[in-house]
Amino acid sequence: MRGAYYSQTKLLRRNLIIYKEMTHLLLIKGDCLEVLPHIPNECIDLIITDPPYNIAEGAVPIYDTRYPKGKRRKIGLEAEWDKFTDEEFLRMMYKFIDEVYRILKPSGTFICFTSDRYLSYLRTYIRNKGMVYRQTCIWQKVNPVPQMRKVKFMHATEFFFLVHKEKGHDNFRWEHGQHPNVFYHPIVSGKERTGHPTQKPVWLFSELIKYTTREGDLILDPFLGSGTTLVAARNLNRNAIGIEINDEYINMAKRRVAPEQRDLFGNFEFYFHDWQTSSQAIISEFISKLQKPKSI
Ligand SMILES: C[S@@+](CC[C@H](N)C(=O)[O-])C[C@H]1O[C@@H](n2cnc3c(N)ncnc32)[C@H](O)[C@@H]1O
Repeated sequence: MRGAYYSQTKLLRRNLIIYKEMTHLLLIKGDCLEVLPHIPNECIDLIITDPPYNIAEGAVPIYDTRYPKGKRRKIGLEAEWDKFTDEEFLRMMYKFIDEVYRILKPSGTFICFTSDRYLSYLRTYIRNKGMVYRQTCIWQKVNPVPQMRKVKFMHATEFFFLVHKEKGHDNFRWEHGQHPNVFYHPIVSGKERTGHPTQKPVWLFSELIKYTTREGDLILDPFLGSGTTLVAARNLNRNAIGIEINDEYINMAKRRVAPEQRDLFGNFEFYFHDWQTSSQAIISEFISKLQKPKSI
């Protein structure tokens, strides 16, 4: 009798896991500064993003080593999307942070990669808005790119910060264990590599998403690049919206996120919209589809 009860419970749990709620992923091609004002107030659990760093000027080009010498394409940081004056860059980031504050839920988290040269400006702006700047964190690349000019150390660190919109919410998933604010991981290589010049590892974004959200939460990455945030969200059953301005990177994201549109159990739906030709209601319609999974 006890055995029967046990196996029924096991079966029930297994079914609940297989028939879990559908994960919804939305990719928008467009300028996030135009799209963000159309996202409703206080609806996002986590904004995790890797905006331009404004470090392209004078950067040494990097070549895509997936191809033989002579056929290698430059993928280094010569990108036009990464070139601003300091004033333009900070104006853009401040406008972005204003939207972050408006659309995050009171319990929401904001994680943003940035160059060390802007950290203190952004921290001051975030604090002045009334958000809680918890800490600066580091991704330490265990296999950094060698120094071409041989005048300084290899660049092996990237900075990001962890911010909570408000104090007093249960929004850090400490049950995953104590973790230092330094994450050791290699840069992307092999099959994971897309050719995007600043692609981040799925592993790193997955760790950050696990510690800051629950299944069924809604994540936003307004500077999506090659789609890393959507891949991590899909793998962890989090709903997500990604915005990217560049056609080439949009295609990378599409290929990575939804090669076959659905996973083995049909547990995720992927939608793509071009902001120029779509109704501005797409985001509200997308959010209305989302339902929290029942607890297992
Ligand atoms: C640092 S990269 C993000 C890389 C990404 N984390 C990945 O793993 O692939 C920044 C991205 O923001 C995009 N971008 C720049 N300005 C934008 C804007 N106003 N709206 C949307 N995307 C933008 C760039 O095209 C670039 O792909």
